[in-house]
Amino acid sequence: MTRPPSLLQQAHSILQTHIQRGDIVVDATAGNGHDTLFLAQQIAPSGLVYSFDIQAAAINATRNRLMAADLLISVCLIENSHAKMRHYIAPLHHGKISAIMFNLGYFPRGDKTIITQTDSTLLALNAAVKLLSQNGIITILAYPGHSGGDTETTEVENWCQKLAAEQFSVKVIYSPEHKDTAPRLLVVQKIG
Ligand SMILES: C[S@@+](CC[C@H](N)C(=O)[O-])C[C@H]1O[C@@H](n2cnc3c(N)ncnc32)[C@H](O)[C@@H]1O
Repeated sequence: MTRPPSLLQQAHSILQTHIQRGDIVVDATAGNGHDTLFLAQQIAPSGLVYSFDIQAAAINATRNRLMAADLLISVCLIENSHAKMRHYIAPLHHGKISAIMFNLGYFPRGDKTIITQTDSTLLALNAAVKLLSQNGIITILAYPGHSGGDTETTEVENWCQKLAAEQFSVKVIYSPEHKDTAPRLLVVQKIG
């Protein structure tokens, strides 16, 4: 039996149909750099990925992955919180960002006590909706199964529900297990 695609694979397929070569996009949580590499492959050679992480180890892992793929030139790596993304993204790109990816939680194979935090995640999401282009898309992979991830997921879902329906569409894709603790993918698109 073939396995259904993971939520991360579904996020990538949604983004792949949406992003064009030359686009400006954001990876809000670089981690091991898999998502940054995926984004760079979509926008290179003329576009740009802004990639954020608060951990030097994550920025280094992402840099190494991009260098191996010869795509470092397409990425601006920022060792700071995604809550400050507006400050780091060039003003000429404000309102021009076609996709912003959030993969919440902790750095796999890293320090599992350093996790995304509800307050900074919400600050980043508020910045993200303002930076998006018309039809721009935000994907948020949320993990309620770890301590702290439960509150963060609930708060992110509440934040999505409060978005103006005439300006944003929101879709939630659940894991097949459909438990309260199972990960979920939220997809926000600026429509108005
Ligand atoms: C699940 S991992 C991301 C996985 C990654 N996208 C990949 O492709 O490997 C979550 C990452 O978010 C980072 N993080 C936590 N708080 C952050 C913040 N405020 N700003 C940016 N990154 C943050 C963690 O350091 C961790 O590396």
